[in-house]
Amino acid sequence: MDYLPGIVLLLLFCGAVVPGQGEPKHSVPRLKLSYREMVESSNLITFNGLTNSSGYDTFLLDEERGRLLVGAEDHVFSFDLVNLNREHKQIAWPATPSKRDECKWAGKDLGKECSNFIRVLQPYNSTHLYICGTGAFHPICAYLEMGKRAEDNIFRLESSHFENGRGKSPYDPKMLSASIMLDGELYSGTSADFMGRDFAIFRTLGEHHPIRTEQHDSRWLNGTTQ
Ligand SMILES: *[C@@H]1O[C@H](CO)[C@@H](O)[C@H](O)[C@H]1NC(C)=O
Ligand SMILES: *[C@@H]1O[C@H](CO)[C@@H](O)[C@H](O)[C@H]1NC(C)=O
Ligand SMILES: *[C@@H]1O[C@H](CO)[C@@H](O)[C@H](O)[C@H]1NC(C)=O
Repeated sequence: MDYLPGIVLLLLFCGAVVPGQGEPKHSVPRLKLSYREMVESSNLITFNGLTNSSGYDTFLLDEERGRLLVGAEDHVFSFDLVNLNREHKQIAWPATPSKRDECKWAGKDLGKECSNFIRVLQPYNSTHLYICGTGAFHPICAYLEMGKRAEDNIFRLESSHFENGRGKSPYDPKMLSASIMLDGELYSGTSADFMGRDFAIFRTLGEHHPIRTEQHDSRWLNGTTQ
């Protein structure tokens, strides 16, 4: 298996006071910072991830509870925004052995593709987030309990209630996707089939019927460029 080099978490301090000059120096926020500069700065904390996980691709900044959530292969992590150094929390959410077997029989790479790559991490209500993953080519969603406030200190997957993740998360971890929760409804731009041929924008959850854009009409995801 190949592993990503890890996530680099960085703190930038703007408008710093220059010693000896008394006046705060008017500084411009930096837009670009090389990896080398980051390594040389003393404000850098690196997280190397787990040896059995990769694909640290999905992020959610939860300012209300002061957490940074990161979705990866078979795991979701929660970091403390006040002190990233403080011990992070993590939950393992792997695909079931039977789904992994099915994925392998379908000709997929057991080590690289037949895991649950987390692709959706969105706020759901005042106590829960909505989380979906590729589920070894069988997209699956669940509710992640966070508590109302940071002090509640809750981080727990509702493992008694899983939902179908089709039209929310892609099947294939190589496929790009995007999603956003608006008024309790999840909008996802994703592929919605095993072969990765059916791309569309889907609206799911909430009180309305699920809807989607036309099948096999790629202009829906490409329309405003002309
Ligand atoms: C990954 O390894 C950690 C310990 O290194 C273990 O706690 C965790 O359950 C493993 N996750 C999976 C999905 O196997
Ligand atoms: C948020 O949603 C979860 C999952 O449906 C539910 O169990 C929980 O009670 C809800 N919380 C509130 C405050 O409505
Ligand atoms: C998407 O838009 C680009 C730029 O207008 C165009 O070249 C490309 O053919 C379009 N792709 C599809 C699949 O329609």
